[in-house]
Amino acid sequence: MAQKPSYYVTTPIYYVNAAPHLGTAYCTILADVQARFRRACGYDVKFLTGTDEHGEKVELAAKAHDMTPTQWVDSLIPQFTDTWDKLEISNDVFMRTTSPEHVRSVSHLWERMRDAGYIYKGSYDGWYCVHEETYYTETQVAHADEAAGTQGQHLCPECGRALERVEEESWFFKLSEFQDRLLAFYDEHPDFVQPAFRMNEVRTFVEGGLKDLSVSRTSFDWGIPVPFDDKHVTYVWFDALLNYATAAGFGDPSEEGKASYAFRWPAQTHVVGKDIIRFHCVIWPAMLMAIGEPLPEHVFAHGFLTVRNEETGAAEKMSKSRGNAIAPSDVIDLLGVEGYRWYFMSDVEPGTDGAISYGRMEQVYNADLANSWGNLVSRTLNMSAKYFGGCGPELPQDWATRESPLRDVAEGIYERYAEHMGAFAYSEAAKVVMELIHAANHYIEDTAPFSLAKDPERADELAFVMGNLLEAIRISAHLTAPFMPATSLEVLTRMSHEDEADTDDLKAACVWGGLRGGLPVTKGAALFPRLDTKSK
Ligand code: MSP
Repeated sequence: MAQKPSYYVTTPIYYVNAAPHLGTAYCTILADVQARFRRACGYDVKFLTGTDEHGEKVELAAKAHDMTPTQWVDSLIPQFTDTWDKLEISNDVFMRTTSPEHVRSVSHLWERMRDAGYIYKGSYDGWYCVHEETYYTETQVAHADEAAGTQGQHLCPECGRALERVEEESWFFKLSEFQDRLLAFYDEHPDFVQPAFRMNEVRTFVEGGLKDLSVSRTSFDWGIPVPFDDKHVTYVWFDALLNYATAAGFGDPSEEGKASYAFRWPAQTHVVGKDIIRFHCVIWPAMLMAIGEPLPEHVFAHGFLTVRNEETGAAEKMSKSRGNAIAPSDVIDLLGVEGYRWYFMSDVEPGTDGAISYGRMEQVYNADLANSWGNLVSRTLNMSAKYFGGCGPELPQDWATRESPLRDVAEGIYERYAEHMGAFAYSEAAKVVMELIHAANHYIEDTAPFSLAKDPERADELAFVMGNLLEAIRISAHLTAPFMPATSLEVLTRMSHEDEADTDDLKAACVWGGLRGGLPVTKGAALFPRLDTKSK
């Protein structure tokens, strides 16, 4: 059998000392849906998420908790793995930057950088934000202070916290040498940054000139030592970005490691938030260029989730102090995990910032899931079980070639859906699936199988109608599976088609006519009980 092509997709590795929240969960589900879709399309998928565990911030937090940094980071991992399990995240790797293979990989990076002549020792004198783990220039700080009316206070332009003055010996990465090469790369790969409008921001930043980057620190210990200068530990972003390559086999000298790296690298897509686009679209490609390694194909940057104030209609930044922060568990309690995934993926446009609200969650859940998808499945399976002795109808050989409005809607549906899915345009893909689901619900009204069932002379017609409905459900279950994997498996199981659930040929699975007639059908409990919180 021919080897499947690799599809390697990643989320950012999250700072270990902040519990997973709606924003990090959003990013992780975005990547998960893509991973599931690609597996169904026949790719050999590697899906990475993980945690970013070094840096001053972590060292300080560990001290404050009277623990060693290792004890502290170890204690924080379960909150990530538990949340991702709950949200049905199908990652193949959970990358920790404290893992021995990553430490080895970072050492290898340093050696390669030195051999290539892209690092040098100097001294750093400037501002640093421990919270953002980011350096700022005098000018950036002055501008931010001026804009905020906080002159002379030296606050972080990103998070507003007090900056730390750093004056120490440091290794530098010659980022300044990559301006032309980066610009040429963007020209040759206009779809490197997605959505396209974010490319302008990246380009403008690079055109403005790049400064060498301080990539080691000496004033704390919690980091990966520079292999040839052990007073220094690696700057946390220099360490963290490399995780994507480590997990592919970078720095692993074994035959297995080399083969894995050759197969997996470069990654196809790094999914990131818009706030960390420069790290991924400027620094990371420059690091790879410096050591002569191929660059990832795409960086997909999503916007930020905000909260829609249901009284004023305004989109507000989510924060604990405003009292509008929503936790993943709050949404799971309301919508269930599958409803959660469907709402965020089908209703929040990933490219731009998206305002969420409980009211909208309820609306989308009721309209798409309770009233449409859930209702279609329950009515159809109920009727089928009732009219055909607990089974689907026996189907005549030519049934799938006969005229049917549902067959018309299903025609070419995979192609339309797949184009959107591949481009992370999940809400468009969801609309395509909903067209079939809506058409099937209308078809029930138009053909009235409950009336046909009363007339023994119309038994063939009834079998045909029910076959069409079950077929539309089978295909919809496949197409909704990346969003709601458990529901799709449940639906296919109720129709005795569960053997199709893990398909790696989604296109073939969506061809009209795949339904096998006469198999047991069970109605089961409502998949999505209607929500009625407003009237409570
Ligand atoms: N550790 C770095 C990433 C290193 S990757 C080599 C980091 N970690 S983080 O824990 O701060 O994760 C941030 C991720 O969560 C970013 O992609 C960010 O965009 C996302 N979000 C944080 N708040 C968010 C929202 N309110 N909405 C959507 N995503 C947001 O940065």
